[in-house]
Amino acid sequence: MMRTQVGIVGAGPAGLLLSHLLHLRGIDSVVLEARSREYVEHRIRAGVLEYVVAQLLIEAGVGGPMQADALPHEGIILRFNETDHRIDFHALTGRHVLVYSQHLLVRDLIAARLAAGGTILFESVATRLEGVEEARPRIHYTQDGEERELVCDVIAGCDGFHGICRPAIAQHLRLFERDYPFGWLGILADAPPASAELVYANHAHGFALLSMRSPMVSRLYLQCAPDEDLNAWSDDRIWAELQTRFSRVGGFALTEGRITQKGITPMRSFVSEPMQHGRLYLAGDAAHIVPPTGAKGLNLAAGDVAVLARGLDALFKRNDGSALKAYSATCLDRTWKVQRFSWWMTSMLHRFAGHSAFERQVQLAELAYVTSSKAAATSLAENYVGLPLPGGA
Ligand code: APR
Ligand code: PHB
Repeated sequence: MMRTQVGIVGAGPAGLLLSHLLHLRGIDSVVLEARSREYVEHRIRAGVLEYVVAQLLIEAGVGGPMQADALPHEGIILRFNETDHRIDFHALTGRHVLVYSQHLLVRDLIAARLAAGGTILFESVATRLEGVEEARPRIHYTQDGEERELVCDVIAGCDGFHGICRPAIAQHLRLFERDYPFGWLGILADAPPASAELVYANHAHGFALLSMRSPMVSRLYLQCAPDEDLNAWSDDRIWAELQTRFSRVGGFALTEGRITQKGITPMRSFVSEPMQHGRLYLAGDAAHIVPPTGAKGLNLAAGDVAVLARGLDALFKRNDGSALKAYSATCLDRTWKVQRFSWWMTSMLHRFAGHSAFERQVQLAELAYVTSSKAAATSLAENYVGLPLPGGA
């Protein structure tokens, strides 16, 4: 049996950043992670950090590699009717975002925790929570084929959408959900990005996104069926379809290269209310999912754990539980605003098979409005660079 103040399930960005923020406040935690270190450090995920989240990481002393290697982006391109329209974040908000791979951030956070003597138990699968309504909740987990137990003051459920923490309190939760009738087929390619800025393309064939990981590596996505068969997509077919969807009046060609990774992401909006029951606090994907169009998943997770770390600090240092009591409401306020933005970006940019000709025209009018009105463009920009974190940054 092991004992800690905060038992954290999941070594994704949420669990790792929480463990680090607690460490800075002198609070002890243990992170349980089902997968290996190797696996989580190489899992390809999102790549855009909001300005406020980048500031949080810098202030927490884990922004070094990010500051050295991230690509600052001061705007994005919206492409529709095969024409480019730039949203200038810097001019509209004075801020920018950083393009930095989530798996590199995970690597940086693991390195920081281990260097500080933190405990991350990899290949340790949490199987069951016990006593979340009691003073000493327990996490049962399996490590090296043995059943073990972690006794905590508080449990942080940072175990993603498919974890065990949210289901453990399911009877106390109300779930809000929306599935989209499409997914994204994403590739990573050894090819210099054909645009210095992200291109979000609304095309009659469906949405496509040009993103990047470095000056030599492109990250590209195309809208597909939610149950699309990846085997039906040869590299040649992927490139041909991407070239079509990124076509632009006056010409545009993606730089092609070796495809090093392929995958399909389902698209879903999901919120669990509240984000806490008893001594179990949910954070990140365990509590909510956004469709990736607004690049918000990782950023929402970071916001949650910033709030949670402050609340736990007040509890452990001053025996003041008021901030923790407000945890769910504080995070949900930001989550719903971000849900709205992600849903809106998704609705504006994708092809909806069920749309009438009228609805298609309204969608194009929305794009025309957002790219011609300073007020509308500012709304997009301030959401994209990140709404303020509750209580700071
Ligand atoms: N026991 C231990 N670990 C578990 C268990 C379990 N039963 N179930 C899941 N996990 C681990 C997963 O292996 C994963 O490493 O929990 C971790 C959850 O991490 P993420 O899925 O990355 O979720 P989160 O930390 O909330 O990150 C937010 O940002 O880019 C978005 O959705 C993307 O993952 C990303 C998210
Ligand atoms: C990515 O680079 O993976 C990415 C960028 C922007 C998005 C979604 C994903 O909106």
